[in-house]
Amino acid sequence: MAEANVMEKIVSLCKRRGFVYPASEIYGGINGFWDYGPLGSLLKNNIRDSWWRTMVEAPPIGPDGHPIEMVGVDTSIIQHPQTWVASGHASGFADPMVDDRETKQRYRPDHLSVIYAWDVEPESGDETQAKYLFAYVEGDDASYRKALKKAQKEAKKTGAKVIENPPRLRLTHPEFDGYWEFIYAPDAEHPGTLTEPRQFNLMLGSEVGAVDPVKVYLRPETAQGIFLNFKNIIDTTRVKIPFGVAQIGKSFRNEVTPRNFIFRSREFEQMEMEFFCHPDESRMWYDFWTAERMRWWQSIGVKKENLRLREHEKDELSHYSKMTVDIEYKYPFTAPDFGELEGIAHRGDYDLTQHQKHSGNRLDYFDQELQLKLKAEGKSDEEVKAKSRYIPNVIEPASGLTRAVLLLLCEAYAEDATRPSPVYLKFDPKMAPIKVGIFPLVNKEGMPEIAEKLYMDLRQKFMCEYDPKQSIGKRYARMDEIGTPYCMTIDGQTLTDQTVTIRERDTLKQERVSLDKISGYLSERLSR
Ligand code: GAP
Repeated sequence: MAEANVMEKIVSLCKRRGFVYPASEIYGGINGFWDYGPLGSLLKNNIRDSWWRTMVEAPPIGPDGHPIEMVGVDTSIIQHPQTWVASGHASGFADPMVDDRETKQRYRPDHLSVIYAWDVEPESGDETQAKYLFAYVEGDDASYRKALKKAQKEAKKTGAKVIENPPRLRLTHPEFDGYWEFIYAPDAEHPGTLTEPRQFNLMLGSEVGAVDPVKVYLRPETAQGIFLNFKNIIDTTRVKIPFGVAQIGKSFRNEVTPRNFIFRSREFEQMEMEFFCHPDESRMWYDFWTAERMRWWQSIGVKKENLRLREHEKDELSHYSKMTVDIEYKYPFTAPDFGELEGIAHRGDYDLTQHQKHSGNRLDYFDQELQLKLKAEGKSDEEVKAKSRYIPNVIEPASGLTRAVLLLLCEAYAEDATRPSPVYLKFDPKMAPIKVGIFPLVNKEGMPEIAEKLYMDLRQKFMCEYDPKQSIGKRYARMDEIGTPYCMTIDGQTLTDQTVTIRERDTLKQERVSLDKISGYLSERLSR
């Protein structure tokens, strides 16, 4: 319960300080859509820039000791409608959905768990059979408490026994077949009001063209724009297999139940990279990228113990995937359990093969280096010909940029009643929206002039905020609450020795640094 409260506090801090607002709030909001405020967009851009730099501008060193080849693209949100037929999204990109006939609410049954009320043998007290099942939305504390209350009421009335923590079975589990009439939906007064699960396609549609408009879809993943341009990239750049193509951009999904703040929204941003490689090397690259991505999350300030890897079971793999491992994070609403942050999928040759088939264009790759190697090994002409042309395999690390914003907010959130602000955000300094707060101690004796000059110098290189108002304690508190790692105060001593007080957010330590050394001081700390 404490953890759920943390989530409420994070949401409220985000609103109060301008990280994230509900979209269209003045019209009552629109479910599943969020706007990023001044601080939220800075934080999002910092994550985006770090990912882009690590993937495209300075990609990791590969197993052969050389930097990996990588290029970036920015493709259209709307593509030819055939794209989604070929990719399998038109037919296969669906989530199960159930409706509650009583409350008219809609749920994903794979997100509903239950509390059981069991019949018991009067003599022995042994459990005989599940009498009623009280569904609640996983990760929603209020929903859990409501289900527990209903189960306890039922137990009191009929002598049933409440089982709070049965093995975690989602309502899509076959165990519930034949039990639907005994299930209470999360907000329902009566049992048996849920409809049977049915599949619901997640793609959001639109129309293009004034005359005879064509039905189109807003992309549900950025990946397909990369596959459609595979040939263009091979023909217009110097990349050779193995290489990656990276992209950051908006994706849209008509999620059945958008929830947990910006964790699952209907409009969101993804950071995806498709790594094209020879099929024989695909497993090696799958492992390489899994390790690399774990390393990156830690490099932006996520603690190792809050991350874990989880291989997908066969029955949860996406329609295109041969194998997938999720990087999961311990969110406040999943703790002590973990929830998805990023998926690293082995997409095999699925996408290029499908687009080749549906477009009629060849999307195979001629591997000249392999051809030369096979020739040198004395392989027959036929074997060389057959093996040096192939459809590459794809390893795809795919993460959510907006989900990463949530992750960093959760990771940074800290409470300490003894500080000027009892709540503060411990962002890694590189990721913090504002890097430096600059304050004159008082608005006289030449202090504002020195502070303004410092601000004018530093703002060229670092995101700074100049704040001459209120008491120094209040200014520190405000900066702590938005996660600013360094505050600089120009005080009486500055007038005599040209030094300023620099206060470090996490340790609260203060040190004096000369005005002419401040830029170097910050550069060193913000590039670590
Ligand atoms: N191209 C593969 C792909 O899209 P995915 O697991 O469906 O795979 C990748 O999505 C990542 O995108 C997820 O791990 C998550 O971080 C993010 N994501 C997916 N759906 C989201 C949603 N509705 N809201 C926010 N982020 C989402």
